[in-house]
Amino acid sequence: MNGKKLYIETYGCQMNEYDSDRIRNALSFELTDNPADADVIIVNTCAIREKADQKAFSSLGRFKHLKAKRPDVIIGIAGCVAQLYGDKIIEKMPYVDLVIGPRAIPKLPKLITEIQSDQRKKIETSFDVEEVFEIEPYHEEGKVTAFVSIQQGCNKMCTYCIVPHVRGKEINRPLEDILQEIRRLVQKGVKEVTLIGQTVNSWKTDRYRFGDLLRIAAEIEGLLRIRFTTSYPRDVTRKMIDAMREVSKVCHHIHLPVQSGSNRVLARMKRTYTREWYIETVNRLRDAIPDIAISTDIIVGFPGETEEDFHDTMKLLEEVQFDSAFSFKFSPRPGTPAADFPDRVDDNTASRRLKELQEFQRKITLEKNMSRVGLVEEVLVEGRSKHNDGFLSGRTPHNRIVNFPGPQELIGKIVNVKITEGFQNSLRGELY
Ligand code: SAH
Ligand code: F3S
Repeated sequence: MNGKKLYIETYGCQMNEYDSDRIRNALSFELTDNPADADVIIVNTCAIREKADQKAFSSLGRFKHLKAKRPDVIIGIAGCVAQLYGDKIIEKMPYVDLVIGPRAIPKLPKLITEIQSDQRKKIETSFDVEEVFEIEPYHEEGKVTAFVSIQQGCNKMCTYCIVPHVRGKEINRPLEDILQEIRRLVQKGVKEVTLIGQTVNSWKTDRYRFGDLLRIAAEIEGLLRIRFTTSYPRDVTRKMIDAMREVSKVCHHIHLPVQSGSNRVLARMKRTYTREWYIETVNRLRDAIPDIAISTDIIVGFPGETEEDFHDTMKLLEEVQFDSAFSFKFSPRPGTPAADFPDRVDDNTASRRLKELQEFQRKITLEKNMSRVGLVEEVLVEGRSKHNDGFLSGRTPHNRIVNFPGPQELIGKIVNVKITEGFQNSLRGELY
């Protein structure tokens, strides 16, 4: 701690949350929730859809007058929007001092010191940073869950996706590094880790594959649960399924984005599998692990998506019965092939399809949640419930949130909870 204060705003995925915690550790400033108090302001941004990057710019815009009043304050933009637009950001917003891409976080302390001494703006968006995993994230005391990054970037080439452009090629973190981070977290009281990567199950080193990592990580004493996200369908292997089935610490939940149920659309997305192949993968998972929960991501209104293609997606949702799904309207991203595809679906049609799909999936999710009523679930207690005094909150292995009355001494423990009610986004229960 050096008396300086950091204000940080985070948008986007788990990887960005993780990176914001790394930024916090890299700078070791005191955190403030008031930007007017801060010496350094960082907006950690997401570029996955157009709306996300607009948010980044409007968020930065709020700090313009602050810089006018206090020229010493350093205003930085980090993350995927920083990587995507680079120096153009400073052209448009001259009060920004620092633009830093996701790979360059380890360079942040040096860049801040330089800005303080030479008062010049810094733009760091190169990919050839040697130690991409070097800085581990800040961990809040008492928190029983944590993310652990095992992979940076992505080697797939989905035609709509900006991630490989802004996060670079896949780099897999060495096994020993991952284990060390988990051990340190467990020493701080963490009971559950979520291994994160863009295609987490494609993780590999010379000797090990993802299934091995699950088994080896599970040997860490004191660690109670392991989750991982996001899985790429083509990288679901026998070895991975066996590890999920045989290693009791690995939660029976997989987030497995399908994106579309139409083979024509899947081909244009370059997802490298067909609808039949995806369903077969789901069947392999369910045969091996009958109680597995499966969630997914869907894009509607991809260029060229016809009413028939959309119905194929709806039929797939009906057939697979996902536990939950995130769904989005296609958003053209600069530099991706799909941004130049002809036959854009008009916005009204895309909105209508999204609404129809979300209403349909909401019912399935609710039914699935209600079907838990009467069952006894193992819940890792994460903390007090936000909405209800005297209630605790935790998650089942399937990743459902459960609220139930109980004493706070149970935080960090796995307890049996009998489910009494099922809602759209959570369950309620009582200690069993
Ligand atoms: N592998 C990643 C996927 C990143 S993006 C992960 O870790 O989650 C998350 C989801 O956003 C994707 O699965 C996809 O459904 C959606 N998405 C990505 N690019 C998109 C775009 N251009 N328009 C709309 N949705 C998009
Ligand atoms: Fe994006 Fe496809 Fe990779 S969705 S993150 S390019 S697997």
